[in-house]
Amino acid sequence: MPAQRTATFTESVIREMTRVAAQYGAINLAQGFPDFPMPAAMKDAACAAIHGDVNQYAITWGAPALRVAIAEKYARWYQMPVDPEREITVTCGATEAMASVFMALIDPGDEVIIFEPFYENYGPDAILAGAKPVFVPLSWPDWQFDPDRLRAAFSKRTKAIIVNTPHNPTGRVFTRDELSLIADLCIEHDVWAITDEIYEHIRYAGSHHVLATWPGMRERTVTISGLSKTFSCTGWRLGYAIAPPEESVAIRKVHDFLTVGAPAPLQQAGAVGMAFDAEYYNHMALDYRARRDVLCGALQEAGFRFTLPEGAYYVLADYSQMSDASDRDFAIWLTKEGGVATVPGSSFHASADAVPHYVRFAFCKKPETLEAAATRLVRLPERV
Ligand SMILES: Cc1ncc(COP(=O)(O)O)c(C=O)c1O
Repeated sequence: MPAQRTATFTESVIREMTRVAAQYGAINLAQGFPDFPMPAAMKDAACAAIHGDVNQYAITWGAPALRVAIAEKYARWYQMPVDPEREITVTCGATEAMASVFMALIDPGDEVIIFEPFYENYGPDAILAGAKPVFVPLSWPDWQFDPDRLRAAFSKRTKAIIVNTPHNPTGRVFTRDELSLIADLCIEHDVWAITDEIYEHIRYAGSHHVLATWPGMRERTVTISGLSKTFSCTGWRLGYAIAPPEESVAIRKVHDFLTVGAPAPLQQAGAVGMAFDAEYYNHMALDYRARRDVLCGALQEAGFRFTLPEGAYYVLADYSQMSDASDRDFAIWLTKEGGVATVPGSSFHASADAVPHYVRFAFCKKPETLEAAATRLVRLPERV
């Protein structure tokens, strides 16, 4: 019998939809991985590192070159001083960073506040750490939270709040005022902020604010990000957690026992990417804006309703004007009959009673992939 703690884990719906897409030859707008190449300079650097025999374990908490490049980038972009020796842990993706941070900071029975809908990994992370998730809704259609509900979610048992901005799946970019309220509540209740900033450079509106730079927050924030999205290299599995020295010691211990370390030659190449100048990031954001506009134009024409995403590369689209089906049935129908795979909205909710009438489209795809999907989507009304 498998261990009890795995009993409530379901198979990732996102990866399941990827399989269904392959089965029906659908265009896969379900899983958030790019179908276009990553930067050539990083690929060359990875090959050079392998040929240069950088093929053994790196220092468990990260190759010095990558940690220094991360620290320099935070100083350059966010005027945030980070000590690469004591405050950075390089992990196998932001995914492992989040799991390690949960296990390093959260005791069984602690409460962790999570905005809902949420990126599906946070639920299992909480279960693995024995934490009790407390959900605060981001409400349709503009995906904002009610400040009073957030305030009410904080209790004596609250240990941490997860703040993901830009947000998957809603595309929200949290404002300075929203982050200030979160900071005030964290300080008032002596709570950790664990931020997931993996989409920090993929924005169409608003600025990216790093919560750790708020007065009084540096010592109670763990900043998580990674290279997967910024450099279109989801398969490289490179992420990191920036935390105060004492907590970094704990995070590094968990990380060491879980994975020993992230791939050494790819860390060398990751350092090259982290040093790219602003032009790279601006260009990338503009390319994503064009992709968003192709997909969102087609969704609107097809009869979906949605709020234009401000960041990340997803749009949550309401189909209730088109169909009464459950989100799962609609997603399967759209894959089989419409030839476009999406993720049912319920996979971003904790409660089995949640009945969202929306599905999530990912637009991290080549223009021709999105154009082909758009052609299929605008033909949909004739088929429903
Ligand atoms: C909000 C969020 N965090 C983390 C990840 C995973 O990041 P990584 O590839 O670095 O593990 C994703 C991937 O979709 C994501 O959407």
